[in-house]
Amino acid sequence: MGHEHRQPATHGTGPLGPWGRHRVCVAPMMDCTDRHARRFLRGFGPEIVLYSEMVTAAAVLNGDRERLLGFDVAEHPVALQLGGSDPEELAAAAQFGAAAGYDEINLNVGCPSDRVKSGRFGACLMREPDRVAACVAAMRSVVTIPVSVKCRLGVDDWDSTAHLEAFVDQVAAAGCSLFIVHARKAILGRLSPRQNREIPPLQYHRVHALVTRRPDLEFIINGGLKSVADAQRQLEHTHGVMLGREAYGRPEVLAALDAALLRPGQSPVTAADALARFRPYVLARLAEGVPLHAMTRHLLGMFSGRPGARRFRRILSEQAPRAGAGIDVLDRALAAVDPAIARAAA
Ligand SMILES: Cc1cc2nc3c(=O)[nH]c(=O)nc-3n(C[C@H](O)[C@H](O)[C@H](O)COP(=O)(O)O)c2cc1C
Repeated sequence: MGHEHRQPATHGTGPLGPWGRHRVCVAPMMDCTDRHARRFLRGFGPEIVLYSEMVTAAAVLNGDRERLLGFDVAEHPVALQLGGSDPEELAAAAQFGAAAGYDEINLNVGCPSDRVKSGRFGACLMREPDRVAACVAAMRSVVTIPVSVKCRLGVDDWDSTAHLEAFVDQVAAAGCSLFIVHARKAILGRLSPRQNREIPPLQYHRVHALVTRRPDLEFIINGGLKSVADAQRQLEHTHGVMLGREAYGRPEVLAALDAALLRPGQSPVTAADALARFRPYVLARLAEGVPLHAMTRHLLGMFSGRPGARRFRRILSEQAPRAGAGIDVLDRALAAVDPAIARAAA
């Protein structure tokens, strides 16, 4: 049980054998990886696995499901991250996610925010492997797409290797064969979510040890990865890498990862290529009444370090939020970086 979702390697075999579907992933990030951001990031590589922002199971059950779950088919492969701790609620939400067409359901066992802690989900669930296992089993029993878990190395004083191994074993026994591990512990209560992404030290070796100990499971490593070289080092020990802040803040890194790791031999997708792919989507959404800024706010990290990048950001952040802003704002912002990019993307 639990391995049915593996498919024949599509990217060749690495040092760890025929893996590959999750070699490069973009992390779930609240307020960042919404449908527009994912549609934009998709343009940098067709095989990168994209994760949604966390959506709580309760919101899926009681909220506006089209708004919460809707996405564009070009986003595939795309995973829905759910937050919750009630097996029945999560199972019902996972069913809606599967029906909406997501390729995978991911359970958030890593988010350290107080709001999440009081709702008893996120990182505090690492202390309750029984409950996480019950949640996974409940979701697995109602969907055929894979159910994965994103967790940390531990939480507060619950951070020994024995704890972590017991967590993985119990959750795996419930049918989860794909773990995404943010390679640091969470410290609840004392650190803000942001500090919890920076202060507890990264301990990649502890994720590597899990891979060695459970060769039957698939492990994606996350935390602090910024470059192709970083990814390559981790892929010597793990099945995949997940980038969060770097992917969002400097999306060009995804083009480099795609060319180096997913489609070797291809020349990296350029910024102009990615924007040319995004532009028809922007036009279609504008015609439906989606504000330009809701889409272009995700582009602000582009071109960083290049001449004109600051003007690009200024034009987008000042002009895109204005009522009625149209595609010409994006064109002007691109022309500020490089008229050739503006022409190629148009
Ligand atoms: C703005 C922001 C929002 C985040 N929201 C989520 C979330 O909804 N679910 C989750 O599992 N992790 C969330 N994270 C954590 C990331 O998924 C990732 O684990 C973390 O940023 C470490 O990876 P990185 O160093 O590559 O950014 C968030 C991170 C950031 C920066």
